[in-house]
Amino acid sequence: MWAKQMLSCFVLAVLPSNTLACLQSSQRRVTTLDIQDQIHARPVPLASTKTAIQNVHVFDGQGFTNPRSVVFANGQLTADTVGIETVVDGTGQFLIPGLIDAHVHVPDIAGLANITSYGVTTALNMACRDYMACAALRNHNQADLASLLSAGVAAVGNGTGNGALQPPPDQLVYPDTDLSQLVAWAFGNGSDYYKIVAKTGGLAQIQQDTIVSTAHNIFNRQTMTHASDLASFKQAVASRSDGIQHMADDGLLSTAIITTIKGNRQFITPTMSVFKYGYSNPAVFAFLGRTNSTNTTYAHVEENVRRLHKAGVPILAGTDAVGPIAPGINLPFGRTLHEELQLLNGVGLTPLEALRAATVESAEWHRLFDRGEIKTGKRADLVLLNSNPLLNISNTQDIARVWVGGVEVQDVAKLT
Ligand SMILES: *[C@@H]1O[C@H](CO)[C@@H](O)[C@H](O)[C@H]1NC(C)=O
Ligand SMILES: *[C@@H]1O[C@H](CO)[C@@H](O)[C@H](O)[C@H]1NC(C)=O
Ligand SMILES: *[C@@H]1O[C@H](CO)[C@@H](O)[C@H](O)[C@H]1NC(C)=O
Ligand SMILES: *[C@@H]1O[C@H](CO)[C@@H](O)[C@H](O)[C@H]1NC(C)=O
Ligand SMILES: *[C@@H]1O[C@H](CO)[C@@H](O)[C@H](O)[C@H]1NC(C)=O
Ligand SMILES: *[C@@H]1O[C@H](CO)[C@@H](O)[C@H](O)[C@H]1NC(C)=O
Repeated sequence: MWAKQMLSCFVLAVLPSNTLACLQSSQRRVTTLDIQDQIHARPVPLASTKTAIQNVHVFDGQGFTNPRSVVFANGQLTADTVGIETVVDGTGQFLIPGLIDAHVHVPDIAGLANITSYGVTTALNMACRDYMACAALRNHNQADLASLLSAGVAAVGNGTGNGALQPPPDQLVYPDTDLSQLVAWAFGNGSDYYKIVAKTGGLAQIQQDTIVSTAHNIFNRQTMTHASDLASFKQAVASRSDGIQHMADDGLLSTAIITTIKGNRQFITPTMSVFKYGYSNPAVFAFLGRTNSTNTTYAHVEENVRRLHKAGVPILAGTDAVGPIAPGINLPFGRTLHEELQLLNGVGLTPLEALRAATVESAEWHRLFDRGEIKTGKRADLVLLNSNPLLNISNTQDIARVWVGGVEVQDVAKLT
């Protein structure tokens, strides 16, 4: 099974203008039944109780407050302090909103359990290959697991193929494909946003424009466009897609395009981790079929994110994590989000900006208005840290406890 999948990834990846994000094609295919079986095998989540975390420094979006109490019940933060059942002493600790990984490919319940254990309480899947399996995962109904939102089957032009997203041939987009129907299917099947792959030789500009305007005007939904080189970036920007995914690594974005992105109010999820991983691991580099024959460098990724951020373009935290997919090849869920924050910090985001990129900014740009902040009425998605992430962003890894919708996660990853 591996051999076949690796081959298809390889074949697609050696096409010119290949993309790092080829890994998802090698993920094990997961069915609705697999997901149901995994759900049945899980331990029963802890009961949700009315809880007060006392004497804790609370992230208010700009910094940490003096020690105070945070109360939640029935999944939400509340100002009502009557009838507290559980008291948590947060003395000397720091409470942040549950983290959001804005670009991930979680295939199953085990992956969701892993990502949740790292304090990532919202996972935005950036492609769907099977609407039934996506629905089963999105509606997992497990109180102690991260919420999963998902794109539809990605729009990939028939002239490219894309290992990362690899829809079956009957789901590729041809010059005469009815794009309104394609977009309608995605949202009819419960997708939260629509995923487009921009690529040289792929979807025509007019096709990308049509998909974006259909999602916006008919469905009032957002689109996310994969773009990992300068030419694709140009298309994604021109289409006015809401979120541009990945980063150009084959040269530097011009001041003109950066100004246009800002003017269009587009946001960028650069997924630095997957580039970092690809560029620092020869096995992955080879697995992806990358060669040194193009102008691609990790330094381009870094400099482009630095410039976009400097210009005031919103940068969100996402990883492109796919989990373990082949011997020696693993982009782990959860840990990578913490690494992404460090990488963003390294190209000029302050620890505060990096933390916002994985919480309030991500929630607002993705229109997830029920989360991302520690405020009355928001979801009780919370991460209690032992040390202050604004002093050093790597302190987000110093996790003490995690709650998802007010339910405490039993298995918390210890990273420090
Ligand atoms: C979850 O994490 C465990 C421990 O690190 C690892 O062995 C496993 O492969 C991971 N599974 C998935 C689906 O990410
Ligand atoms: C894409 O589809 C069109 C229309 O069916 C066809 O003419 C073209 O050859 C296809 N391109 C590739 C690379 O398969
Ligand atoms: C769901 O998607 C399939 C194609 O995968 C399509 O045939 C079906 O009509 C869609 N359902 C809805 C309700 O849009
Ligand atoms: C390669 O990238 C550099 C910037 O680092 C740029 O000056 C040069 O024009 C690029 N070359 C090509 C062939 O795109
Ligand atoms: C690409 O070039 C870099 C620097 O010259 C080198 O470290 C790396 O191993 C090369 N990668 C491959 C796959 O040849
Ligand atoms: C942050 O902490 C890490 C891990 O302890 C350390 O390597 C790094 O130098 C620290 N960074 C700053 C800016 O203090």
